Amino acid sequence: MSEKKTLFLPKHNVGGALTGSRPDLSVRPSRSEQPLPTVDQSVTLAGMTMKNPVVVASGTFGFGREYNQFYDLGELGGICAKGLTLHPREGNPAPRIAETPMGILNSVGLQNPGVDAFIAHELPFLRQFDTRVIANISGNTPEEYGIMCQKLSQAGVDMIEVNISCPNVKAGGMAYGTRPELAAEVTEVAKAHAGAVPVMVKLSPNVTDITVIAKAVAEAGADALSLINTIRGMRIDVNTRRPILKMNTGGLSGPAVLPVAVRMVWEVSQAVDLPILGMGGVAKGEDAAQLMLAGASAVAVGTALFADPYAPLKVRDGLTQLAARQGLSQVSQLTGGVLPWN
Ligand SMILES: Cc1cc2nc3c(=O)[nH]c(=O)nc-3n(C[C@H](O)[C@H](O)[C@H](O)COP(=O)(O)O)c2cc1C
Repeated sequence: MSEKKTLFLPKHNVGGALTGSRPDLSVRPSRSEQPLPTVDQSVTLAGMTMKNPVVVASGTFGFGREYNQFYDLGELGGICAKGLTLHPREGNPAPRIAETPMGILNSVGLQNPGVDAFIAHELPFLRQFDTRVIANISGNTPEEYGIMCQKLSQAGVDMIEVNISCPNVKAGGMAYGTRPELAAEVTEVAKAHAGAVPVMVKLSPNVTDITVIAKAVAEAGADALSLINTIRGMRIDVNTRRPILKMNTGGLSGPAVLPVAVRMVWEVSQAVDLPILGMGGVAKGEDAAQLMLAGASAVAVGTALFADPYAPLKVRDGLTQLAARQGLSQVSQLTGGVLPWN
């Protein structure tokens, strides 16, 4: 994203930093123009079957309402909803999005209406679609994670993604994701309150060795792992000498982080025996295939949505075509298929 592009951002993500305008609605390339080869697109993530391996990443899709103007949300394998907290949050002051070469920095800071409002107003909307609904939660304390898990499991989400990796909040957030004992504690509490709903823990890339955290979380009972969250970064306006983001620093996402995500998925897949939802910079089928070959069972598309709301469908179709070209009958056969040199 080095050139100026029109970004499409759900309204609660923008915070005044960018005025996203909508792409032309008369163009609806949601379905591929060419018939897709007969490859089974379905995958399973911690016992949860999905019609295809492409989900949308938390915080980049709101609660789906804006994107539903473009296509039937039932075309997606799953929707990771915007990160929820126990109580509503305003998020951080603007500017909170900054463009960078090959990506964006964000410091949105978990703006959301709170878990109860999600259950009352957003979950019924999402439930209309034939897709998996994954709730993403962040707490200030392990107890808050537990309360949210209880509420969400009773409300009937398909999976809970426990975010222990948000770089943009002061309390909790990334602190849990960078210390193995705290990551394990949050996982245990989440599992104890989630009933039969699978718990997927979202790991931070802002660590020296991600496998240490992955192992701690696996031992604490996680059903799946998702990675990566954003990588901490900073931009400075050299004329004003002010950081571009009001919070000074933010989290980097987009194409720039894909190689880091592939490397971390590969390392984690060798370290623990848990299914992985891979994400970070996925914009096309080949990107998703890299994460799957590295060990991911499914992939999430995030920042690519801001330039192209149809990105997840293009990733899905590109992945299917790639699998067909390689003579596979199932997309899931890509998982873990990398042939390392040694
Ligand atoms: C604007 C924005 C908001 C985000 N909010 C959340 C969030 O609420 N919870 C979360 O777990 N991750 C959040 N993320 C991280 C993404 O879900 C994803 O892990 C990351 O952006 C890497 O994927 P990508 O490069 O495809 O965007 C956010 C990312 C962006 C860009």
